[in-house]
Amino acid sequence: MSRDNRTLLITGGAGFIGSNFITYFLKAHDDYEIVNLDKLTYAGSLENLREAETFANYHFIEGDIADEAVVEQVFTDYDIGGIIHFAAESHVDKSIADTKPFITTNVVGTVNLLQTAKRDWEEKGVLSERRFHHISTDEVYGSLEEDGAFTEETPYDPRNPYSASKASANMLVNSYHNTYGMNVVISSSSNNYGPRQHDEKLIPTIIRKALAGESIPIYGDGQNIRDWLYVTDHCKALDKVFHEGKEGDTYNIGGRNERTNMEMTNRICELLDEHQQERKQELALSSFKDLITFVEDRPGHDRRYAVDDTKISQTLGWKPVVELEQGLAETVAWYMDKWRKQAQ
Ligand SMILES: NC(=O)c1ccc[n+]([C@@H]2O[C@H](COP(=O)([O-])OP(=O)(O)OC[C@H]3O[C@@H](n4cnc5c(N)ncnc54)[C@H](O)[C@@H]3O)[C@@H](O)[C@H]2O)c1
Repeated sequence: MSRDNRTLLITGGAGFIGSNFITYFLKAHDDYEIVNLDKLTYAGSLENLREAETFANYHFIEGDIADEAVVEQVFTDYDIGGIIHFAAESHVDKSIADTKPFITTNVVGTVNLLQTAKRDWEEKGVLSERRFHHISTDEVYGSLEEDGAFTEETPYDPRNPYSASKASANMLVNSYHNTYGMNVVISSSSNNYGPRQHDEKLIPTIIRKALAGESIPIYGDGQNIRDWLYVTDHCKALDKVFHEGKEGDTYNIGGRNERTNMEMTNRICELLDEHQQERKQELALSSFKDLITFVEDRPGHDRRYAVDDTKISQTLGWKPVVELEQGLAETVAWYMDKWRKQAQ
């Protein structure tokens, strides 16, 4: 981020990670203006931004990154000094059912932002100073078997339409660095968990179904492995990458918590057994685990993701600090509270 301009455009800030990031960033840095551009799709919610809205240096614009006129208008209204680009269609199952919205937002939307930022920053003579930080995923690297972990040198091998759209966006972002000298950086993280994630994702689904007394669907044999990263650890890593990451580089961000889906589901059920005894009795269950049901596997379901975070830990001094046990307990408590309030 250039020192001359501290107006930061965040895209997709009404979603899970973006809203956690904005709330974290406003508290960590009081010398920035934050402009949040979000289309408010089914995945975005202004409810996620209640705390952010109390800051005078926070501004919200409802709009689509895939709409050129909208992005142009943002650059006309604000002198944008840097971008952190979260906005995406993010649910793998939805990308398998219908790929097009993933191309429109994740690929075309990213190109719109790149083109408009390039034009504006070139005109102002600051193209190499102002930073474009693209938020990506470890899913671009494909699937691992038992050993090894993804490094920044692992070739892209996306295996579902969501990860293919994210890999395409990564390549376009890198091409703007190589072709035009744009100051870009990419961070690729593992699965995030924590407050404000949309109800459709794995952890909220387990908690929601369990409390409703409905079967908890687990794909295939439940042995797919993911590396779980607490969302605030991710936010701190992004702050470091945005401010200190090397131009043109990629940084992998992981939680150092590899677990099978079954391990995660069992642990969440145990936490619910402990904190929701009355509900468990009402449903006549000996444990919420009784609700676990195996369903037909997701097509092209990647077996294992694991992230090697040597680069970010050694060069930027970041490492995850939230233990999975603590993060899960906080996450379960947050959703129990959310749905209790909704039920009132
Ligand atoms: N959630 C994870 O575990 C995870 C892991 C690695 C990387 N990522 C990446 O992090 C980013 C954020 O993920 P998330 O889980 O917070 O997603 P999310 O689905 O919770 O939020 C996405 C946000 O983007 C907005 N949006 C969607 N299309 C838009 C458009 N065309 N124009 C403007 N706004 C639009 C939505 O309204 C929503 O607020 C994504 O780029 C995703 O690929 C997520």
